[in-house]
Amino acid sequence: MSSQPKVLVTQDEIRQAVIKLAAEIRRDYQGKQLLLIGILKGSFVFMADLIRQLGLPVEVDFVKLSSYGAGKETSGKVKVVQGLKTPIKGRDVLVVEDIVDTGLTVSFMLDYLKKKKPASVKLCALTDKPSRHQVPVTIDYLGFTVPDKFIVGYGIDWNEKFRYLTNICFVD
Ligand code: IMP
Ligand code: MG
Repeated sequence: MSSQPKVLVTQDEIRQAVIKLAAEIRRDYQGKQLLLIGILKGSFVFMADLIRQLGLPVEVDFVKLSSYGAGKETSGKVKVVQGLKTPIKGRDVLVVEDIVDTGLTVSFMLDYLKKKKPASVKLCALTDKPSRHQVPVTIDYLGFTVPDKFIVGYGIDWNEKFRYLTNICFVD
């Protein structure tokens, strides 16, 4: 592959999207004790920006899931690599994900959390590739719809590379 990433979404556009998403989430969870659960590792940069725009006293936890081998295609089998430590029974939970591709990861995650009987679970995703979905997914808060390209930057990697890029880019 030619590995020079090309800009798809600029850091200014990301910042505006985070402000807009934070405003929607703030409106919906005003007065609640929201727990954000990020899916590692790709969500960590988005999560860090989102919680600082929210202006709500949220708590944060992370779950590490894995479905990828070394390539650009999901293996289709999602595994819990590091499970949830925070009890969520009766709590309002918002899952934070970097990218919805086939939808298998977030749909696994939502099932995994629903078994723990939270009061509510919703999904916030920075990016979505709707043309790639294999299972139905409802994204409650979405930053960007992206084309069927391999995305990197702003926390998102290709083989652990490019997470540090400030823009959302794509590689061929
Ligand atoms: P899904 O299970 O196919 O929806 O894939 C979701 C996970 O695969 C995301 O959390 C990402 O970690 C990874 N992924 C999917 N598409 C991309 C991409 O374009 N770039 C980098 N990672 C991706
Ligand atoms: Mg991910």
